[in-house]
Amino acid sequence: MNAHPLYKLITDKTLFEVIAKRFGSPTYIYSKERIENNLRSLNHSLSSYFKRYNICYALKANSNPHLVKVMKGILPSLSADCSSPGEIFVAEQSGINLQNCIFTGNYESEGDLKSALRAGIHINLDDITSFHRLKSIGLPAEISFRLNPGFGKGKFAEITTAGEKAKFGIPKEDIISAYRLARESGVKEFGLQCMAGSGVLDENYFPKLLSAILDSAREIETTLKIRFNHISIGGGFGIPYHEDESPLNIDTVFSELSKVFYSYYEPSGAPAFWIEPGKYIMGDAGILLAKVIGIKHSYKKYIGLDAGMETLMRPALYKAYHRIYKIGDPDAPIQITADFTGSICENTDRLAYDRPFPKVSEGDLIAIMDTGAYGFSMAHNFNTRPRPAEVLLDGDNPVLIRKRETIEEIFLNCNI
Ligand SMILES: Cc1ncc(COP(=O)(O)O)c(C=O)c1O
Repeated sequence: MNAHPLYKLITDKTLFEVIAKRFGSPTYIYSKERIENNLRSLNHSLSSYFKRYNICYALKANSNPHLVKVMKGILPSLSADCSSPGEIFVAEQSGINLQNCIFTGNYESEGDLKSALRAGIHINLDDITSFHRLKSIGLPAEISFRLNPGFGKGKFAEITTAGEKAKFGIPKEDIISAYRLARESGVKEFGLQCMAGSGVLDENYFPKLLSAILDSAREIETTLKIRFNHISIGGGFGIPYHEDESPLNIDTVFSELSKVFYSYYEPSGAPAFWIEPGKYIMGDAGILLAKVIGIKHSYKKYIGLDAGMETLMRPALYKAYHRIYKIGDPDAPIQITADFTGSICENTDRLAYDRPFPKVSEGDLIAIMDTGAYGFSMAHNFNTRPRPAEVLLDGDNPVLIRKRETIEEIFLNCNI
């Protein structure tokens, strides 16, 4: 059983009571210390094993510009992986140099492609048809394509983003034609990208994936006589959500990846190695603070919170597991087994299923762990619920980095 890196924090009942009183609940709380730890360990391992590398933080995980600025302060070389014009906007607002960032869309609209082109960000295309759409607007000097190597791996089927059932990328059988077309259309510089799934904790998988990417890279380079400037393996570096899971040894992951990488390329002439981590940087740095509203003994037992699927989508979307603790007393004896739910009018509204838990009462505060990535960024307004506040813990100083949305703000664009 693995102790959570923020376990000690949630024993501090006073701190969370202060946050709940000052900023309300539900509230996403992020630990600056943990973000720093995650960024530094990634950077340390990459710099130990790769001559040239680029960390493109996947903004989709959490695009609060304040957090991105904090990350950039910790690691000035940080770049970003953007999937939309909105994320390009955040990268720019956060002071990240767009020239080193990557834009990966899919079914990219003319508007998406125009924004990316105007921003001067590196454009990574999902399909040959995307290339035709881009060409009709204008071609940048450099592009990459997203490879679907024919297999992928993710914590859930829904976040496995390569293989025969994935909507993403160009099948490996067609990838040469894509680069040929780009070269014949006048593109001079190239990268290659692959993102095959999220939430992977199997250290042996990453070298297998990289070998498959590099097999394709070699074939493209040899056939078309081009050299890649960079190769991106995407994100996907998982974190242990469950107490039974072990964290990745990230140093081993990059040590093994570098062995594969430099078995294909001489270190002096190798492309830069890019990664696009989201979850690994933000996932375990976030806690969703929620309050118990009601406890119901029906055919099943329910602990009803002021947070629901509109606050945190992952359990309803994938049946994702998040550790939940009673704030101030995380080790209290287990007394009930209940589903955690919110106030949404859908029976999929769950934050946990059949969870053994200590005795709780109305008004108690609870912590939903590992919610720093794909937490707030997936929050929505179903049932016209305003989205929560976000707070950054700098040491033990809670700083409000996004105000709670108001009902009026939800309707700002309506003609009432
Ligand atoms: C293209 C791309 N890069 C990076 C990521 C980040 O993945 P993760 O948060 O698993 O690191 C994603 C996630 O879906 C992605 O689609």
